[in-house]
Amino acid sequence: TAQVPKDKTIDNTLAIFKDGYNFIPKRVQNHHLDVYETRVLGEKVALLSGVEGAKLFYDTNRMDRKNALPKRVLKTLFGENGIQTKDGEAHAHRKLLFMSLMTQESIQELYEITTQNWARFTKKWNRMKKVNLYDESRELLCRTACEWAGIPLEEKEVQKRTRDLSNLIDGFSAIGPKHLESRRARKRSEAWIERLIAKVREDQLEAEKDKALYEMAKHKDLDGQPLDARIAAVEVLNVIRPLVAISKFIAFGSVALHEHPQIQKQVALDEEYLFMFTQEVRRFYPFVPFLGARANQDFTWQQYNFKKGQLVLLDVYGINHDPKIWEDPNEFNPDRFVDWKGGLFDLIPQGGGGYYHGHRCPGEWPTIEVLQASFRYMTKHLGYTVPKQDYSYSLKKIPSLPKSGFVISQVHFKS
Ligand code: HEM
Repeated sequence: TAQVPKDKTIDNTLAIFKDGYNFIPKRVQNHHLDVYETRVLGEKVALLSGVEGAKLFYDTNRMDRKNALPKRVLKTLFGENGIQTKDGEAHAHRKLLFMSLMTQESIQELYEITTQNWARFTKKWNRMKKVNLYDESRELLCRTACEWAGIPLEEKEVQKRTRDLSNLIDGFSAIGPKHLESRRARKRSEAWIERLIAKVREDQLEAEKDKALYEMAKHKDLDGQPLDARIAAVEVLNVIRPLVAISKFIAFGSVALHEHPQIQKQVALDEEYLFMFTQEVRRFYPFVPFLGARANQDFTWQQYNFKKGQLVLLDVYGINHDPKIWEDPNEFNPDRFVDWKGGLFDLIPQGGGGYYHGHRCPGEWPTIEVLQASFRYMTKHLGYTVPKQDYSYSLKKIPSLPKSGFVISQVHFKS
């Protein structure tokens, strides 16, 4: 495979830290193929980019998820034995459980809960000198997530749960104390939800049907048995943890609104534009850098010989910024979605392919709905000023975020 480009250095683990979100694009996008070979953590890894690369990554006949995630990620971000690590029938059965929560009515309800919480928080922020929108929206979303998932949340535990759910996300790529704190947050969060699962099963807690807590507690696996309580807890956390993570898109979207006053006006006026703005926030800003899978057989693709068991990484950030897909990809421009046909492998901030048989995020529509509720509220009803601050963000740091978290002041209700 002489023509397949590869790194000449022995190991590029450190390059991931140095190049951050541009680790894969920098390597693949300058070549004619959608595949590039490198070595990470002592393994020969195939990097995939482009629409064709995404199609291969989501071809379940050739790619598996088993053993694709490092232990440190399972011990923090995802939990062990959840849907992310499953393949085939077992995955499809579990995925149906998640998709059954995403009905039109439940997504409408999520929109309403989110909007009510923005109104409630506006009153609180009105009394504050400075509001860190990232920090505050995490709590707003923790309350939203728990209400939507049917999880009772006592006032005195709100801050602790918000902190733990955020730490699951922010600690997986960290080293040292921050990583250890993330592992503790995982243990505490699983224990918390596991207790609630047990109560639902023993009828000690009246849980609402069709909501995540109830449905995960009552779900029967392929063998006809209820899920192990710990695994049910992992799956409930797979609903509320990422809902809290939407705060990152809220912080980034606030930057976009601030930097483009004309766009801000249009978002307030036009529902369709609000949707296009939301899509552009999800495309443009760095969130998920890449995803991993393993080849489940030997095969050749674009002249490259994939080996059974080989680690494959998909260039999520790069595909969202691929100049072959997007015109002027590094410009923030919601209008690019005017005539957008919505391919399954081009806009992939939450994964690509189909929902039911692949691993594409089942929370994509909930995410869009929460963001639309938030940006609509911000542009229509939230009066605020933006004090001087550094809201720049780095593409070298994974996960990325505006440095200041986006601070606003003089918050008031505007009708
Ligand atoms: C999977 C991103 C919000 C639940 C994923 C994947 C990505 C992603 C990249 C993996 C796709 C793959 O492996 O091929 C995001 C982002 C979110 C978000 C950036 C917004 C901040 C949500 C929400 C929920 C959710 C709100 C639940 C309500 C899940 C689950 C999976 C998943 C359960 C695993 C699906 C599977 O393995 O089949 N998400 N997500 N996510 N997401 Fe999300």
